[in-house]
Amino acid sequence: MRILSIETSCDETAVSLLSIAGDANSPGIKTLGNALFSQVNLHAQYGGVYPNLAKREHQKNLIPLFRSVLTESKSLKSSQKKIVVSAKTKKILEREPELLRQFLDFLPTIRKPKIDAIAVTTGPGLEPALWVGISFAKALGNYWNIPVIPINHMEGHIMSVLFEADKAKGRNEIRINYPLIALLISGGHTELVYAQKPLKYKSLGQTRDDAVGEAYDKVARMLDLPYPGGPEVSRLAEEARKLGIQDTKLKFPRPMINSKDLDFSFSGLKTSVLYFIDGRKLSRRKKMEIAREFEDAVTEVLLRKTQLALLSKHAKTLVVGGGVIANSHIRESLKDLVKNLPNTKLLIPTRELSTDNSKMIGVTAYIHLMLGPKRSKKKGAFSARGNLRLSS
Ligand code: KG4
Ligand code: ZN
Repeated sequence: MRILSIETSCDETAVSLLSIAGDANSPGIKTLGNALFSQVNLHAQYGGVYPNLAKREHQKNLIPLFRSVLTESKSLKSSQKKIVVSAKTKKILEREPELLRQFLDFLPTIRKPKIDAIAVTTGPGLEPALWVGISFAKALGNYWNIPVIPINHMEGHIMSVLFEADKAKGRNEIRINYPLIALLISGGHTELVYAQKPLKYKSLGQTRDDAVGEAYDKVARMLDLPYPGGPEVSRLAEEARKLGIQDTKLKFPRPMINSKDLDFSFSGLKTSVLYFIDGRKLSRRKKMEIAREFEDAVTEVLLRKTQLALLSKHAKTLVVGGGVIANSHIRESLKDLVKNLPNTKLLIPTRELSTDNSKMIGVTAYIHLMLGPKRSKKKGAFSARGNLRLSS
């Protein structure tokens, strides 16, 4: 089955075309085309993602990325007779004028490619940004009469583990066995999710204030590091560990580490860092000590709560998704944790798929098509949901 997928929930515009077949828990996936544009440098000047700028950029970039995916997958064929874009299709794009203009210029010039379904992220994320992808998906679906599948971005992060780095084997050796625990750690999320079986998600706990990535980014700002600061803080911490630099008297709190629930809180930790710095000018060495202790505190809390979740649910699979899993210390600590749990397998996405992308959205749509309830014929009955939750 060929699935076109579209992701515009935050500051990455992404489009891909996948050919997927086989068992939904271990599908064979071939990437026919993939294109991604990160707006991170544009938003850097604002110190965070600016929703209306993201919306404008998504509108500008979707058609060029779509064209590049069609070219890469050898699906771009010019059309002799122009198909008229209906008033209904135009109406879907009326709030995205730049995208509508490009749509009208491009679509009538090409032949309908072989696409069985269009997957699009509907949340969580920035609503103005989400709407651009949704409108594009709906417009394409309407124009070519292809079903559109709404996908939860966080479920995408979970399923991103299904792509194998080594394609040489020709078949997927990764399998998601249930029960599953997913630790989702990104700039907007920190959550432990449980699935007793496919598509049946239950949130076990989440952050009560800041997300892990957000705490990293805020601490980075306190340390005068450039945006996005997560990787910068982790680089400093890494260097400190390598050089054996540590202030043994410096101890930040491990918030909620002994609470019986699976919730998190990172705002107190962040405030402790702020109070410790207390407006002082810091040497590089001091920054390294702070980064290391901050990262240790975050990692210990994540580990303790994840361990609790795994043991209480007898999980066979631990999936870790979201941008923060790019962090080597957290990654390695989680590997050590499951070494002591012989019945649990850890699945982590490749680096490319740890951050936002559209491939994870496409494979999630496949799982829904294979295992989910048969979809109603009513197309287009969904909208952007900034706070969409992952539970059934
Ligand atoms: O999932 P993601 O790409 O975007 C969303 O938030 O949805 O995650 C981005 C977050 C940012 O907060 C970034 O600072 C953080 O992930 N991040 C890291 C590292 N790389 C990215 N945090 C800690 N260590 C890293 N190496
Ligand atoms: Zn994400």
